Amino acid sequence: MILSVTREFSTAIVAEPRDPDSEKTKNGTGDVWALNMSVLRNFRDLANAIISENKHLLGRLIDSPVAMRNHVVKRYGLPNGLPTIDILDLFPDFKETVDPFAYMEGGSSTLDLAVLRAFARRFKDCTYLEIGTWRGESLANVASIAKRCISVDLSEQELRDFGYPDEMAKNCDFFSKDLANVERVRHSSHTYDFSRYRKSIDLAFIDGDHSYDGVRVDTQKVFDLMRDDSSVIVWHDYGDTPERVRFGVLAGILDGCPAEKRRNLYHISNTLCAVYIKGDFKTSEVVYPQIPTKRFSVSISSRRT
Ligand SMILES: C[S@@+](CC[C@H](N)C(=O)[O-])C[C@H]1O[C@@H](n2cnc3c(N)ncnc32)[C@H](O)[C@@H]1O
Repeated sequence: MILSVTREFSTAIVAEPRDPDSEKTKNGTGDVWALNMSVLRNFRDLANAIISENKHLLGRLIDSPVAMRNHVVKRYGLPNGLPTIDILDLFPDFKETVDPFAYMEGGSSTLDLAVLRAFARRFKDCTYLEIGTWRGESLANVASIAKRCISVDLSEQELRDFGYPDEMAKNCDFFSKDLANVERVRHSSHTYDFSRYRKSIDLAFIDGDHSYDGVRVDTQKVFDLMRDDSSVIVWHDYGDTPERVRFGVLAGILDGCPAEKRRNLYHISNTLCAVYIKGDFKTSEVVYPQIPTKRFSVSISSRRT
């Protein structure tokens, strides 16, 4: 299993050097010890270089779907993921127009955005927090309904440090840059001090760093910020598809969620989203392939930006 290989590997590289004198006595010479130590040091330096150059690759290995699914099954007994709420049980008269939508890589699905809009309508003067804004599609969709929006994304320098191409920074906020009700925080959510937003958020959307640890840290932080029992948290990419769970993200959600709140975690049918919401809901287990239980109608139009 990849996880345990990684653990063994890191145990090896942090091993403390042994005492040269005691080694000398044992071997009759310090040369063998010195040679061993130099090989070890080179190995450690190489390993550190590989780790720091390939944080994302390493993250992906550690977050391997099999290891993460095992973790979720062992700790939470959820081999098929969270219980699923039917979208029509959440929003019986579901009707939304999604605008803007880029039909490009890296965004949410139209239905995910429509769900965010529908949640925002539940609150009078909704205060919305979004971690991970990218082109600003989800942000702009909610900003036309919410009163106040807080958008958290990496600064230009952080984007460069994370190895993203320069075009990434140019894309940031594309659809949301002129919106008057948006406060922009350009700082990694993992290290940002959110204390000024404590108990002020009605609706939060977590769609930033999708690694296990990234989701876990964001989840822990966001629970602290929610206003009251009616507050709602939505996580994106809980699913790789609406019918298949992304177990690294689910593990981060479950481990980051306060224990007493875990029973209020669900998947929303037909979406890639998980949600924290209080209430009594009928639920089902989604196992691929499902038979459709509803039909959506979609109308599309486009104009140049
Ligand atoms: C999938 S995109 C967000 C898409 C957007 N929510 C939408 O649906 O239109 C993920 C974003 O998360 C940001 N991100 C990644 N790690 C982050 C971190 N540690 N803190 C804040 N933002 C982060 C990336 O810069 C990127 O813009």
